This record gives sequence, structure tokens and C-alpha cells, in this order.
Amino acid sequence: MQGRRLATTDEIIAIVSPNSDDVVARLESWTTARDITLSTVDVGDEIDERYDPNRATLGITIGGDGTFLEGIKTFAPRNVPQLGVNTGTLSFLARVEPDDLNAALDEVVQGRAKVDSRQQVAVTGSSVDATGINDVTVKHVPPENPVDSKVTQLDVYADDEYIGEFEGTGLAVSTPTGSTGISLSANGPIHYPVDNHTLQLVPLHTHQLGVRPIVVSPSTELRIVTRGPATLLVDGGRTHTRLETGESVLLTGADRLAHVVRTSYDDHFFTAIAKKLGWGIRAVDDQPSTPRSETDRALGSGPHSGTISSAIPTATEADPANPANPANPAKSSSVADAGETGSRSDSPAVPSTGRDDRTTLEYARTVATEAAEAAGEPLRELHGQVDSITVKSDKSDIVTEADHQANRIITTVIDNEFPEHGIVSEEQPRRNRADGYTWVIDPLDGTGNFAHGNPNYSVSIALLDCGTPVMGVVYVPETDELFSAIAEVGARRDGDPIETTDRDRLDESMLISGYDPDGTFLSHFYQESRGVRRLGSAALNLCYLASGSADATWEHDTHPWDIAAGLVIARAAGATITDERGEPFTFELETDDRTALLGSNGPLHPALLGHLKTGLSDRGADR
Ligand code: IPD
Ligand code: CA
Ligand code: CA
Repeated sequence: MQGRRLATTDEIIAIVSPNSDDVVARLESWTTARDITLSTVDVGDEIDERYDPNRATLGITIGGDGTFLEGIKTFAPRNVPQLGVNTGTLSFLARVEPDDLNAALDEVVQGRAKVDSRQQVAVTGSSVDATGINDVTVKHVPPENPVDSKVTQLDVYADDEYIGEFEGTGLAVSTPTGSTGISLSANGPIHYPVDNHTLQLVPLHTHQLGVRPIVVSPSTELRIVTRGPATLLVDGGRTHTRLETGESVLLTGADRLAHVVRTSYDDHFFTAIAKKLGWGIRAVDDQPSTPRSETDRALGSGPHSGTISSAIPTATEADPANPANPANPAKSSSVADAGETGSRSDSPAVPSTGRDDRTTLEYARTVATEAAEAAGEPLRELHGQVDSITVKSDKSDIVTEADHQANRIITTVIDNEFPEHGIVSEEQPRRNRADGYTWVIDPLDGTGNFAHGNPNYSVSIALLDCGTPVMGVVYVPETDELFSAIAEVGARRDGDPIETTDRDRLDESMLISGYDPDGTFLSHFYQESRGVRRLGSAALNLCYLASGSADATWEHDTHPWDIAAGLVIARAAGATITDERGEPFTFELETDDRTALLGSNGPLHPALLGHLKTGLSDRGADR
């Protein structure tokens, strides 16, 4: 889940442990000031009556790690991201301190927090069906008389391959998140949990010195068969059952991940480990500065390049000792530094006063990439399951709830980052800034395909400088492809440079037709070329031209938002774009005028124009 998506949060549900009134009062005044709905429930209570799946909900837990684990049970099955406020003592999971709550929440609704998607472990058997974020342990049943204490014998298989017989107190199967718990105390390794989906099997109090922890993938099926009665506990007993002799249970990675919100107010993972485990290899306060040079940081070339925290305007220049968080001098680690991976934006970030145009555009590309990827999430979730389609001007001009959700995410993110800029989006009233920067957005290009479950649709975001398209991002949610360009700098797909073909023979070329109501393009070029494809997203058609999988594309008429981003990408990749007469292609943001577009690799343009002009005059379409 993308942190940018949280910019549209409009509801908070808080699970509250006893004696948390102060924190709840603070949360109430924060939510009231921002018109965000707040519901609170006690630990252990159901949230069904408060939860509305159609809203953008953030889950909060106020308590220690126990309350956080209750939150995971409640929020993870509903795909709700969760932030933990720590009012407990030794806490690895609930990492925001009450004093930092307001500032941390501001960061969340600005879309600047990150979301860690954590692996969970699932266990099934005749007497259990549960999921845990930490671990599943299978242990001996405590005897009534301690003198009768016995070892537990468990046969364990991985994907039906027999691992062996484990003898001792039992076994723990833990997630990376749970690796700092029971399994650590049994000499298991600590897993760095970010983007780590492995599970580990750790013997507890075994007497066989050669038996070591085993790490498996989340798709491995671990089968544990008891040779005597045993107790099974999930997350320290939040779910528990007794297993009889010969009973078997199956453990594997859960399909559903838990979404844990991380802000710059969280401790760095290894700082938390050092503090909480008294780690001997460094003193808690003995943190050397990042090994990356300042140049690396500015160019985003470190392990977290392109992450939000490295991208947002910070007090870096003003206070080099506090690179991450101008509002919180006590903390020096950022979310990015906490280890989350970056987006594919390969842009340097950190705009500053007096920045040059290139830096502004690189930063704009970072924000547009993150906004497009965040919008892609609800699009993927709703793809193929749209039940309400609204017809706009005619039967093929439609809009769905998905268009609006994607629009909300993108425009909120852009407004947060660039409040001075104009925004012209297909799905909202125009706010053009003819004398400055304006964003031109189609939150879902190819709604017809989308609504019918066809994967050919995209998110299109462009930036115009005084009317000239200068930066474009087109994201394809179903294939997770990201096209982007800065005018006159170059175009990329997933970070790799792309360019148009140099084919100059029409009979060897592959063409794409967009909207072609009277079939002019198809009828003229179908016989002349290798083929004419009709796909359904104008933005994406231009990206196919840019990356060489098509040699030309045609739109009988387009709106600016259909093509603004694709235009920058195709031009930067070497394409020639004109109207149907060969005049340079332009568009108008103030009116509803639509324009014809012929895009090609360049060498084919004269031949295409020649045929097209004949076709148009044949049909009396001389416009
Ligand atoms: C449409 C698509 C289509 C093009 C139409 C556009 P929408 O956009 O780009 O390929 O031919 O002219 O309206 O309505 O799906 O955003
Ligand atoms: Ca469109
Ligand atoms: Ca659209």
C-alpha cells in the first residue's frame, strides 16, 4: 500500500486500551479540526458498526504492542492501514509516542508517511483457523505436577518433504515482525522486516544441538504433526487450541498482508532494536551519520532513493544535523531511513528555494509517480467489479466510482505538495493557471476497458509550464508499468530509456488507432501496414509509440487530459506529433475543444499524412 493513498483519509477508528483518555482527547481535537470522523472502541470490541468500507479509513491503536496486535486482527482483514501509538512499556510495534501523535498524523494526511506491508502467518487444522502477525507456537501441554514435565515431539514437513522430528519444548513459526519475540529468545535470527516475507521455524529448548532455525518462503507449506498432546498459540495466545496426539496443522504465509503506517516519528528499526534489546554492538545514542554522502542523498541514489521523505521539502539545508524532520528536532531518522523501499521514480528530489527548473521537474515527476501508483491501488481493487457506471455525454463516455477515487488521491497529493499550481482534471472543475504551472490529469484513461474488465487502462498525469507540457507520467496498474519523461531530457519505462522506432516503410509498420468514429484510419491503413490495433487508452497508445511497440498512433479527436502526459513521453522519445494536416499539435485548456492527433516515429509521418489527408477529403471531413 502506498503512503500517498493516505492523503485522502476521511475516517479514523481507534482501538483504545484503558487509561488512554489524554491521548484520545488529543486525537479528538486533531480530527475535529480537520473534519475527519473519529470512532473509538475498547480493546476486544467489534468495529463493524463503525466501519464503512467505502471510506478511506485509518486504524489507530492506543496502547502497547498487545493493543497493536488486537488492531492487526481487526484492521488487517479489512485492508485498513494501522498506526500504533505507544502508551505501553516495551513496544516494538506501536512506535509513535503520544507527544508526537498530532505531528505524525499531519504527516499521514499529507501523504508523506509510508506503509510497511508486513507478512502474516496463517495456521489451519481441524481445531484452528487463524492468522498471526508475530508467530505460531506449538508447545507441550503444561503438566499438573511440574515433575511430570515432558518434552514435545513434533514431526515437521516442508511442502510434504520430511524435515525431521523436533524434540524439546516445541516450535515457533514466526514472521519477520515476530522474529524479535519468542523465536529470538530461542536463538532465532532477527529479520529486518521491510519487504521481507519469509517465515522461520525455530526449535524451542531443543536438546539436539545440531538442530537450527530454518527460513522458508511464504508459499512453503509447513506441516506439523504431534506425537503427543500439545498447545497451539497464535500471537502469544490471542488464538489458542489444544492439539491431540497425531493431529496435524498446516502453516504458511497468509494471503493478506498487514499494513503498518510508518512516520518520521518512528524509531529507526535498528535503533529500536538497540534500545529495546540492549544490543551490544552499538550504544543507543552512538549513531554515526548515514554512510551515504550528502551528494548521494540529494541525488536519491541511496537505498531509499525516491522515497517520500527524501522527496519532501525538508529543513535539510537549514539543519543538516536533522535531515528528516524539521518539525521534530529530537528525531533524526526519517521514514525513508527506517528502510522502506522507494518508488520507481528515479528523480532526485528535495526542491529548495531558488531551485532550478530541472530540479522542480524531477521533483514533480517523483510526486506524480507516487500519486499515480497510489491511485493504481483502488483501480486494481475495483477493476472488473464496477457495478455503478454513470453515462456522461453518450453511451461510450462513462465514469465510475473508480475514476473519482483515483482523482481524489491524485489531486489531494498534488494540492498538498504544490498548493500554488493549477489543476485541470477530467473529473473536476478546471483550475487553470495559464501563467504558471498547471497539472493536467486523467485519473483513469480507458474507463470503457476498465469497466469491462479489460486490463488496457492507465493513469495519466502531466505538468504544463505556462501552457507547455514539460513533464508526464503514465502508469499502467495491471502491468505495473511506469512511463515518464521530462521534456527534452528523455523518456523512460520503469527507469530504462525508451525511444521510438526508425522504421520508414508503411508495409512493415504496426499502427494504433484511438477514437476513429468513421473508420478513416482503419480503412486507409489496414491493408497498407502490418496491422492497425484499437486498444482504448489514448495515453497508453502514445507510450507504446514512445517505446517502439507501435510506429504510429491516431486520435480523431482528444481532450487535453487524454494525451498531455503521453505527449511529453512520446516527444521525449523522438516522436513527431501533429494534427491531421501536419501542423504542430496543440491543445486548449480553457475550452472543451477537442483536437485530432497523429503521432509517429518521424520517418513514417509524411506517408501517414498523405494517406490521411486523402481519406479525410474522400469523406468530406475537411475540417
Ligand atoms: C478515452 C480513451 C480512448 C479515446 C477516447 C477517450 P476515457 O478516455 O482515451 O482511448 O479514444 O477519446 O475519451 O474516457 O476512458 O478517459
Ligand atoms: Ca481519457
Ligand atoms: Ca478518464
